[in-house]
Amino acid sequence: MASKELKILYEEFASPSEMTERDQMLVAAALDAQKGSYSPYSQFQVGAALLLADGTVVKGANQENAAYPSGLCAERTAMFAASANYPDVPMVALAIAGSDHGVLCNSPATPCGACRQVMAQYQKKYNHKIEVILVGKKKIMKFGKVEDILPFVFSSLD
Ligand code: THU
Repeated sequence: MASKELKILYEEFASPSEMTERDQMLVAAALDAQKGSYSPYSQFQVGAALLLADGTVVKGANQENAAYPSGLCAERTAMFAASANYPDVPMVALAIAGSDHGVLCNSPATPCGACRQVMAQYQKKYNHKIEVILVGKKKIMKFGKVEDILPFVFSSLD
C-alpha cells in the first residue's frame, strides 16, 4: 500500500486588475453574460465566457425550466454553442461568474461535476488545455487545466 498526495496549483487574485488584459476581458465577458441568465427558479444568475483559439468569445448563461433537469448550466451552454458553431476551433479559457439574486457571490461559484466532465472532453477533443477562471467579488481563482478541478477524470477517449 502507498499513500499518495495530490497537489493542485492555482492562482488567486483579489481583483481583475491583477490579471492579464486577456483575462480581464474574459472576466468582464463572464459578468456581462449573466444578463442572459434565465433563472426564475433559483434566482442564481451564472454567466460564462469561453475564449477560443482564434480570439472568438462565446458567451453562455444558465437556462432553467419548469421540468428542472431540462435546464442547463451556463458553462455547458457556452461550450455547446462553441462546439456547434466553431467545431474546429480549440477552447482556450473559460471564465464563470455566479450571482445570487443579482449580487455577485463573494466566493466564486464553482462548476458542477457534469460541466467539469464536459470541459474535460473538449480539452481532450482539441488536445488543448482549457484554463478555468472562477470569478467572485472577493477573489478570483484561475486553474491552468481542467484536471485541476476534476482529478482522475473519466475519459473514453484514452
Ligand atoms: N449553475 C450554473 O449555471 N453553473 C454553475 O457552475 C453552478 C450552477 C446554475 C444551475 C442552476 O440554473 C442555478 O445555477 C442554480 O443551481
